[in-house]
Formats: sequence, C-alpha cells, structure tokens
Amino acid sequence: MEETTNSCKHIAIIMDGNGRWAKKRGMPRTFGHKKGAENVINITRAMKESGVKFLTLYAFSTENWQRSKDEVDALMGLLREYLDKEFKEIMDNNVKLLFIGERYMLSNDIIEKIEYLEKESAKNSDLTLCVALSYGSRCEMINAVKNITKDAVDGNINIDEINEKMFSSYLYTKDIPDPDILIRTSGEQRISNYLLWQIAYTELFFTNTLWPDFNKDELLDIIKKFNTRERRYGKN
Ligand code: IPE
Ligand code: IPE
Ligand code: MG
Repeated sequence: MEETTNSCKHIAIIMDGNGRWAKKRGMPRTFGHKKGAENVINITRAMKESGVKFLTLYAFSTENWQRSKDEVDALMGLLREYLDKEFKEIMDNNVKLLFIGERYMLSNDIIEKIEYLEKESAKNSDLTLCVALSYGSRCEMINAVKNITKDAVDGNINIDEINEKMFSSYLYTKDIPDPDILIRTSGEQRISNYLLWQIAYTELFFTNTLWPDFNKDELLDIIKKFNTRERRYGKN
C-alpha cells in the first residue's frame, strides 16, 4: 500500500509576490501586501487542518528595511493592524505565536505587541506559528557566534562542547524543529537569507503562484508530494 501518513512537522514559507500580484491588477504594491496579509489567515487555518504542527512565515527580512520609506511604513501599519485584529482568532484556534528576527530594529509599540502576544499564547498547543520579522539568517548566526563566544570567555561553556546541537540552541529557532518543507511562491528560486542553517536537509518547493493566490489546495498538494519523497537525513 502507498505510504500516506504525514511525516511533515514543520513548513516554512517565503511569502513572495505581493507587489507583482498588485501590479498585474494596476494597483499599488501596498494593496498586494494587504491581500498577502489576509492570506496568512487562510493558510494558517489550512495548516491546522493538515495536522502539521509548526509553520514559519517570512514576513519581513532584514534586507526589506532598505525598501522605500512609504512601503516599509505601509508594511508596519499592516502588521500593527494584523496583530490587533487576529489576537482572538489566534487564541480561539489554540495557536502559539513566536517571532524571530532582529527585534530591536522594530518600533517600540510593535515590540510591545509581539511580546504581549507571545506571552498570552505561550500555552497554546495546536499549531506554533513562527513569524520571521526583521529576520536575516546571517544576522541570526552572527548573533549566535557572539553569544557562544561570550559564554566561552565567561567560562560557562567549554570550546570542545560546541557542536551542531549546541549551535542550534543559540539560534532564534531553538525551540522548534528544522523545517521539513520550504515553499517559495512567485517563481523566484532563491533563499533570500532565510533559515540557512535550519534548511540543511529541507525539501524545497518553488511555485509560480503569487503569495496572495496561494491556497489550501496547493499547500495540501505540496504536503502530499513531500510524503512521497525519500529522505535519508533531516527527519525530526
Ligand atoms: C513579499 O512580496 C512581501 C515582502 C517581502 C514584504 P514582495 O513585496 O517581495 O512582492 P514582489 O516580489 O515585489 O512581487
Ligand atoms: C523575501 O522576499 C522576504 C520576504 C518574503 C519577507 P523578497 O522579495 O524581499 O526577496 P528578494 O529581494 O527577491 O530576494
Ligand atoms: Mg519579492
């Protein structure tokens, strides 16, 4: 009989293509971001149904700070709105929220909001939704190196103790397993500084669908394909 069990625990997504989605409709890029933010809810619901326990979404990269001030402001505005509006949905659906990235670069009111949400949702257990916000993988690894070095200099750890497991425990993702699946929408086939360490053995899926159009059927289809792939390493 064909293997049908779902062995996927964690899906990471690079939600790309909002700008092109809007452009195709003669609308400003920010309209695409609004539709993209709305789609996060649909995909989070679909994830819960699929039984996959961890979802990590790339919402804003450290490089994205270099976009125009208008676009950055619009994205931060949407984020504020989303964090307030979706609080109930998150709690009703037993979703635990985590944020990874360079928090200090965000404005104080956003830092307060995400800390509040993390605290309130900490005991939820159906799905862990990890949002990569102001996130860059190289930055994350440099921070880890700094903290390991500090602990070594302070005499808290021995250099011989440094191994892959320990390095992972210094990353923002320390509490979640490595992704089994990475999906990038919009046709681009690059990683854009996302979870470089964590995706060492992740199965990669690229789709031409622009993020606002990415739906449950496509997600379930990818999970199905994943379950037929042979993997020797990287199983959590
Ligand atoms: C992804 O859509 C959302 C963010 C990076 C915030 P883009 O804004 O990159 O859309 P495209 O790639 O220009 O179409
Ligand atoms: C990656 O998309 C970051 C997010 C989806 C948040 P970008 O559109 O910013 O990446 P590049 O610039 O095409 O590499
Ligand atoms: Mg893009």
